[in-house]
Amino acid sequence: MTSQPPRVAVLASGRGSNLAALLDAREHGELPVEFVLVGSDKASAGALRLAEAANIPTLALDPRSYPDRLAFDLDLFQRIGASGAEWLVLAGFMRIIDGAALRPWAGRMINIHPSLLPKYRGLHTHRRALEAGDREHGASVHFVTAELDGGPVIAQARLTIEAGDDEQQLAHRLLPLEHRLLPATLALLASGRLQWDGHAPCLDGRPLHAPLLLGEHGLRLAE
Ligand code: GRF
Repeated sequence: MTSQPPRVAVLASGRGSNLAALLDAREHGELPVEFVLVGSDKASAGALRLAEAANIPTLALDPRSYPDRLAFDLDLFQRIGASGAEWLVLAGFMRIIDGAALRPWAGRMINIHPSLLPKYRGLHTHRRALEAGDREHGASVHFVTAELDGGPVIAQARLTIEAGDDEQQLAHRLLPLEHRLLPATLALLASGRLQWDGHAPCLDGRPLHAPLLLGEHGLRLAE
Protein backbone atom coordinates (compact mmCIF):
# COMPACT_ATOMS: atom_id res chain seq x y z
CA MET A 1 0.00 0.00 0.00
CA THR A 2 1.43 3.41 -0.92
CA SER A 3 0.94 6.12 1.67
CA GLN A 4 -0.76 9.34 0.69
CA PRO A 5 1.34 12.55 0.73
CA PRO A 6 0.51 14.93 3.58
CA ARG A 7 -2.26 17.35 2.63
CA VAL A 8 -1.47 21.05 2.90
CA ALA A 9 -3.57 24.21 2.65
CA VAL A 10 -2.01 27.65 2.12
CA LEU A 11 -3.42 31.08 2.97
CA ALA A 12 -2.04 34.14 1.22
CA SER A 13 -3.19 37.73 0.74
CA GLY A 14 -0.70 38.95 -1.83
CA ARG A 15 1.34 38.22 -4.93
CA GLY A 16 2.18 34.70 -3.73
CA SER A 17 5.89 34.40 -4.41
CA ASN A 18 6.25 32.17 -1.34
CA LEU A 19 3.41 29.99 -2.62
CA ALA A 20 5.21 29.84 -5.98
CA ALA A 21 8.33 28.64 -4.14
CA LEU A 22 6.33 25.90 -2.45
CA LEU A 23 4.83 24.76 -5.74
CA ASP A 24 8.25 24.83 -7.34
CA ALA A 25 9.80 22.74 -4.57
CA ARG A 26 6.99 20.22 -4.95
CA GLU A 27 7.53 20.16 -8.71
CA HIS A 28 11.21 19.41 -8.17
CA GLY A 29 10.50 16.55 -5.78
CA GLU A 30 11.80 18.44 -2.73
CA LEU A 31 8.44 18.77 -1.03
CA PRO A 32 6.37 15.58 -1.17
CA VAL A 33 2.99 17.03 -0.19
CA GLU A 34 -0.36 17.57 -1.85
CA PHE A 35 -1.74 21.10 -1.93
CA VAL A 36 -5.47 20.75 -1.36
CA LEU A 37 -6.49 24.39 -1.04
CA VAL A 38 -5.18 27.93 -1.46
CA GLY A 39 -7.34 30.47 0.34
CA SER A 40 -7.30 34.23 0.52
CA ASP A 41 -9.10 37.19 2.04
CA LYS A 42 -8.53 39.03 -1.25
CA ALA A 43 -10.18 37.84 -4.46
CA SER A 44 -7.50 39.73 -6.44
CA ALA A 45 -4.53 38.00 -4.75
CA GLY A 46 -1.88 36.80 -7.20
CA ALA A 47 -1.56 33.69 -5.05
CA LEU A 48 -5.05 32.58 -6.18
CA ARG A 49 -4.08 32.91 -9.85
CA LEU A 50 -0.96 30.81 -9.24
CA ALA A 51 -3.05 28.14 -7.55
CA GLU A 52 -5.59 28.11 -10.38
CA ALA A 53 -2.77 27.68 -12.89
CA ALA A 54 -1.53 24.72 -10.86
CA ASN A 55 -5.04 23.20 -10.66
CA ILE A 56 -5.25 23.62 -6.91
CA PRO A 57 -8.73 24.38 -5.51
CA THR A 58 -9.02 28.01 -4.39
CA LEU A 59 -11.17 29.88 -1.92
CA ALA A 60 -11.63 33.65 -1.65
CA LEU A 61 -13.68 34.94 1.27
CA ASP A 62 -14.38 38.62 1.79
CA PRO A 63 -14.10 39.62 5.48
CA ARG A 64 -16.50 42.51 4.84
CA SER A 65 -19.38 40.10 4.31
CA TYR A 66 -19.10 38.74 7.88
CA PRO A 67 -20.39 40.40 11.06
CA ASP A 68 -17.00 40.22 12.81
CA ARG A 69 -13.51 38.72 12.75
CA LEU A 70 -14.49 35.57 14.62
CA ALA A 71 -17.33 34.78 12.19
CA PHE A 72 -14.95 35.15 9.25
CA ASP A 73 -12.21 33.10 10.84
CA LEU A 74 -14.51 30.28 11.92
CA ASP A 75 -16.00 30.00 8.42
CA LEU A 76 -12.56 30.13 6.79
CA PHE A 77 -11.12 27.50 9.11
CA GLN A 78 -14.18 25.28 8.83
CA ARG A 79 -13.67 25.29 5.05
CA ILE A 80 -9.97 24.59 5.41
CA GLY A 81 -10.85 21.60 7.61
CA ALA A 82 -13.37 20.42 5.02
CA SER A 83 -10.62 20.47 2.36
CA GLY A 84 -8.96 17.59 4.19
CA ALA A 85 -5.84 19.64 4.95
CA GLU A 86 -3.65 18.29 7.73
CA TRP A 87 -1.17 21.19 7.64
CA LEU A 88 -1.73 24.88 7.13
CA VAL A 89 0.80 27.41 5.87
CA LEU A 90 0.40 31.18 6.13
CA ALA A 91 2.41 32.59 3.24
CA GLY A 92 1.85 36.32 3.44
CA PHE A 93 -1.65 36.09 4.96
CA MET A 94 -2.11 39.63 6.25
CA ARG A 95 -4.77 39.12 8.90
CA ILE A 96 -4.78 38.55 12.61
CA ILE A 97 -6.62 35.28 13.28
CA ASP A 98 -8.88 34.69 16.25
CA GLY A 99 -7.48 32.28 18.83
CA ALA A 100 -10.63 30.15 18.81
CA ALA A 101 -10.15 29.39 15.12
CA LEU A 102 -6.45 28.66 15.58
CA ARG A 103 -6.69 26.27 18.50
CA PRO A 104 -7.47 23.07 16.55
CA TRP A 105 -4.40 23.79 14.36
CA ALA A 106 -1.86 24.10 17.15
CA GLY A 107 1.35 22.43 15.97
CA ARG A 108 0.00 22.02 12.44
CA MET A 109 0.13 25.61 11.25
CA ILE A 110 3.17 27.70 10.32
CA ASN A 111 3.78 31.28 9.22
CA ILE A 112 6.67 32.97 7.44
CA HIS A 113 7.63 36.37 8.81
CA PRO A 114 10.29 38.68 7.37
CA SER A 115 12.35 39.34 10.50
CA LEU A 116 14.56 37.51 12.94
CA LEU A 117 11.83 36.87 15.49
CA PRO A 118 11.37 37.74 18.31
CA LYS A 119 12.53 41.01 16.74
CA TYR A 120 10.00 43.08 14.80
CA ARG A 121 6.69 41.33 14.99
CA GLY A 122 4.03 42.93 12.79
CA LEU A 123 4.63 45.24 9.84
CA HIS A 124 7.53 47.22 8.29
CA THR A 125 10.17 44.81 9.50
CA HIS A 126 12.87 45.87 6.99
CA ARG A 127 12.48 49.53 7.87
CA ARG A 128 12.56 48.77 11.58
CA ALA A 129 15.73 46.68 11.28
CA LEU A 130 17.43 49.53 9.37
CA GLU A 131 16.23 52.19 11.79
CA ALA A 132 17.57 50.17 14.71
CA GLY A 133 21.00 50.01 13.06
CA ASP A 134 20.95 46.20 13.03
CA ARG A 135 23.86 44.46 11.34
CA GLU A 136 21.76 41.38 10.58
CA HIS A 137 18.26 40.78 9.31
CA GLY A 138 16.36 37.73 8.19
CA ALA A 139 13.19 35.70 8.04
CA SER A 140 11.58 33.23 10.43
CA VAL A 141 9.15 30.36 10.13
CA HIS A 142 7.22 29.75 13.32
CA PHE A 143 4.30 27.75 14.64
CA VAL A 144 1.24 29.95 14.78
CA THR A 145 -0.34 30.77 18.14
CA ALA A 146 -2.89 33.41 19.15
CA GLU A 147 -0.02 35.85 19.74
CA LEU A 148 0.77 37.74 16.51
CA ASP A 149 4.10 36.50 15.09
CA GLY A 150 4.72 35.17 18.60
CA GLY A 151 4.66 31.37 18.29
CA PRO A 152 7.77 29.20 18.71
CA VAL A 153 10.32 29.80 15.97
CA ILE A 154 11.32 26.71 14.00
CA ALA A 155 13.82 28.00 11.47
CA GLN A 156 15.47 31.20 10.31
CA ALA A 157 17.39 32.56 7.35
CA ARG A 158 19.90 35.29 8.16
CA LEU A 159 21.46 37.98 6.03
CA THR A 160 23.98 40.72 6.67
CA ILE A 161 22.78 44.29 6.31
CA GLU A 162 25.17 46.13 3.98
CA ALA A 163 26.06 49.81 4.25
CA GLY A 164 23.67 51.72 2.01
CA ASP A 165 20.91 49.08 2.12
CA ASP A 166 17.45 50.56 1.98
CA GLU A 167 14.10 48.96 2.71
CA GLN A 168 13.53 47.79 -0.87
CA GLN A 169 17.01 46.35 -1.29
CA LEU A 170 16.71 44.47 1.96
CA ALA A 171 13.31 43.05 1.00
CA HIS A 172 14.70 42.13 -2.42
CA ARG A 173 17.69 40.25 -0.97
CA LEU A 174 15.65 38.55 1.73
CA LEU A 175 12.91 37.19 -0.53
CA PRO A 176 15.01 34.45 -2.23
CA LEU A 177 16.00 33.24 1.24
CA GLU A 178 12.34 33.11 2.27
CA HIS A 179 11.70 31.05 -0.85
CA ARG A 180 14.15 28.41 0.37
CA LEU A 181 13.28 28.64 4.05
CA LEU A 182 9.54 28.01 3.79
CA PRO A 183 9.62 24.85 1.60
CA ALA A 184 12.50 23.39 3.64
CA THR A 185 10.63 23.93 6.91
CA LEU A 186 7.36 22.58 5.54
CA ALA A 187 9.15 19.50 4.18
CA LEU A 188 10.55 18.79 7.63
CA LEU A 189 7.17 19.26 9.26
CA ALA A 190 5.31 17.12 6.75
CA SER A 191 7.90 14.36 7.11
CA GLY A 192 6.92 14.00 10.77
CA ARG A 193 10.47 14.77 11.97
CA LEU A 194 9.49 18.12 13.38
CA GLN A 195 6.86 18.43 16.04
CA TRP A 196 5.57 20.86 18.60
CA ASP A 197 4.28 19.43 21.83
CA GLY A 198 3.26 22.80 23.29
CA HIS A 199 6.74 23.52 24.69
CA ALA A 200 9.69 23.75 22.28
CA PRO A 201 9.67 22.58 18.66
CA CYS A 202 11.29 19.13 18.58
CA LEU A 203 13.39 17.68 15.79
CA ASP A 204 13.66 13.88 15.77
CA GLY A 205 12.29 13.90 19.31
CA ARG A 206 14.83 16.41 20.69
CA PRO A 207 13.82 19.94 21.67
CA LEU A 208 15.39 22.71 19.59
CA HIS A 209 17.33 25.11 21.81
CA ALA A 210 17.63 27.60 18.96
CA PRO A 211 15.89 27.90 15.60
CA LEU A 212 17.28 25.82 12.74
CA LEU A 213 19.38 27.88 10.35
CA LEU A 214 19.15 27.99 6.59
CA GLY A 215 22.57 27.26 5.12
CA GLU A 216 23.90 26.50 1.69
CA HIS A 217 22.62 22.93 1.86
CA GLY A 218 19.31 23.55 3.58
CA LEU A 219 18.35 23.62 7.23
CA ARG A 220 20.86 22.77 9.92
CA LEU A 221 21.06 22.89 13.69
CA ALA A 222 22.36 26.16 15.12
CA GLU A 223 25.73 25.85 16.85
C1 GRF B 1 6.72 37.86 2.54
O1 GRF B 1 7.74 38.78 2.74
C2 GRF B 1 6.38 37.18 3.82
O2 GRF B 1 7.47 37.00 4.66
C3 GRF B 1 5.42 38.16 4.45
O3 GRF B 1 4.65 38.63 3.37
C4 GRF B 1 5.41 38.55 2.19
C5 GRF B 1 4.60 37.75 1.21
O4 GRF B 1 5.14 37.78 -0.07
N1 GRF B 1 4.69 37.55 5.52
P1 GRF B 1 4.53 36.84 -1.20
O5 GRF B 1 3.05 37.16 -1.35
O6 GRF B 1 4.75 35.42 -0.78
O7 GRF B 1 5.29 37.20 -2.44
